[in-house]
Amino acid sequence: MKKDLALLFRKLTHGVYVIGVVDNNQYNAFTAAWVMHVSFNPLMLALSINPNHSSYRMIQSSKQFSVNVLHRNQLDLARHFGEPSNSDKLANIKWHRGQTGAPILDHALAYFECEMKHEYQAGDHQLVIGHVIDGAILNSELSPLLYSDTEDMDGSHDLYSDTF
Ligand SMILES: Cc1cc2nc3c(=O)[nH]c(=O)nc-3n(C[C@H](O)[C@H](O)[C@H](O)COP(=O)(O)O)c2cc1C
Repeated sequence: MKKDLALLFRKLTHGVYVIGVVDNNQYNAFTAAWVMHVSFNPLMLALSINPNHSSYRMIQSSKQFSVNVLHRNQLDLARHFGEPSNSDKLANIKWHRGQTGAPILDHALAYFECEMKHEYQAGDHQLVIGHVIDGAILNSELSPLLYSDTEDMDGSHDLYSDTF
């Protein structure tokens, strides 16, 4: 029987984040939903990234990245940073360099700064584990944007097969 695995997997709850990357004074950022907290001590986050993204090569080289938490009114930013980096996606966006040098969006809900510690292949993605070295809440009034609010913005519906 043909199954709608895209609908099934959308029942996993995710937030929406903009991952900031830096390499040799070059900066970029991309939207990601597959981000999770994985350790208390040390504090660690995991990020699942498609190795074809230009941002992946930058993380591999610098071993630094930021995780910017988007809020409910930032669907436009999720779409903007979900585009491939044909142009400077950070132009016209207010951001600053964090401790790691990775971009922090001034209007994010919160951010984390990470140093990459481990990397594992996970099927067609790479699981990047980062040690959280800094972070802050920038806006405590608004609630986080949910991946389900982005519907099929990432075009992932077509990436699922019909069977397990
Ligand atoms: C809502 C949303 C969630 C996404 N989640 C992820 C993700 O978790 N991991 C990933 O590798 N790409 C994810 N993407 C796709 C990237 O944002 C997209 O491919 C982007 O163009 C990569 O940027 P870059 O080419 O500048 O590195 C997501 C896109 C959107 C719109």
